[in-house]
Amino acid sequence: MSDLPRIGIVTVSDRASRGEYEDRGGPAIQAWLTDVLESEWQPIPRVISDEQPLIEAALKELCDEQGCCLVVTTGGTGPARRDVTTEATEAVCEKLLPGFGELMRQVSLTKVPTAILSRQTAGIRGKSLIINLPGQPRAIGECLDAVFPAVPYCIDLIEGPYLKTREERLKAFRPQAKAPAQTTTT
Ligand code: MTE
Repeated sequence: MSDLPRIGIVTVSDRASRGEYEDRGGPAIQAWLTDVLESEWQPIPRVISDEQPLIEAALKELCDEQGCCLVVTTGGTGPARRDVTTEATEAVCEKLLPGFGELMRQVSLTKVPTAILSRQTAGIRGKSLIINLPGQPRAIGECLDAVFPAVPYCIDLIEGPYLKTREERLKAFRPQAKAPAQTTTT
């Protein structure tokens, strides 16, 4: 097993998993991360159908067995009967980070009114951050550009690897180390 940071890329789609159409979401996530990350990393891709137990099993395997510091999903966040990626994410995470969904919807609403239909969220399972993206390939860059500045620091906080971004493409925000308290003499 290589020591490179691993990133899980999960396409949730009935039709892509049956081979009825080509998966465009997973490759779009991989291309975005390759463009933005300066650190070397290893993609661990999965394509699965819209079945909550299968999505949960894939997320657990990527976090617990593959040791992914980050897992990005695409698809299954909407209101349709078979859209259950959000439920699967909530079921496997110990902590939810609702700010990710809030920011992604806010940014996406400037592009399409139907962004309000996405229930995308994010959360922490062990030492892994899981982020949901909508299935529309165009949404991938729109959403990752918005939230990714906070991702490397989030991964620091959960004791994951130090991820470096190409600063000219996207600057990761890491708060300054707290200045030592001033001592006053009287
Ligand atoms: N967000 C962005 N940035 N761009 C988009 O095109 N599509 C929306 C929404 N969010 C979209 C978006 C649509 S049409 C839907 S139905 C929801 O995401 C849910 O998509 P999903 O079920 O494929 O995850």
